Amino acid sequence: MINVLFVCLGNICRSPMAEALFRDILKKENLSNQITVDSAATSSWHIGSPPHKGTLAILKKYNVSSNGLVGRQLAKEDFEKFDYIIGMDESNVKNIFEITGKPQHPKIIRLLDLTQHNKDVPDPYYTGDFEETYQLVTDGCQALLEKIRNEQSLT
Ligand code: 4NP
Repeated sequence: MINVLFVCLGNICRSPMAEALFRDILKKENLSNQITVDSAATSSWHIGSPPHKGTLAILKKYNVSSNGLVGRQLAKEDFEKFDYIIGMDESNVKNIFEITGKPQHPKIIRLLDLTQHNKDVPDPYYTGDFEETYQLVTDGCQALLEKIRNEQSLT
């Protein structure tokens, strides 16, 4: 089993969006039995909370299930449990290094560094633009699946 974890600041906007979207892609590609997906926050602000209403609305718009999305905080042990730990922006990546105590590990990646965009995923909590974030997260998730296909032997 390959385990993927998406991480953002609050775990209510970007990383649950990525979790739901990536799970949807895996289902369509018949890979749900080989790859698991989860998400977490670097902060403790929204532990136990459902996603932001803007994230729920954009997932609904694109017919992606938001079942089972609940806020949790990243823990040191997550470093061993997950094979890919994907931050939404540079500050997330820095905080992942700090929480896991593993700076500069190749399994810790900024999502859009896997794409041509090479930038942070804008935080719709501040920008209000959930559509822009959704499109970028979609590109990132597709690139992540390509990377996993190249690195792992999937059946
Ligand atoms: P996220 O966005 O990291 O994409 O979930 C945020 C969610 C909540 C807050 C900030 C960013 N907040 O300040 O509570």
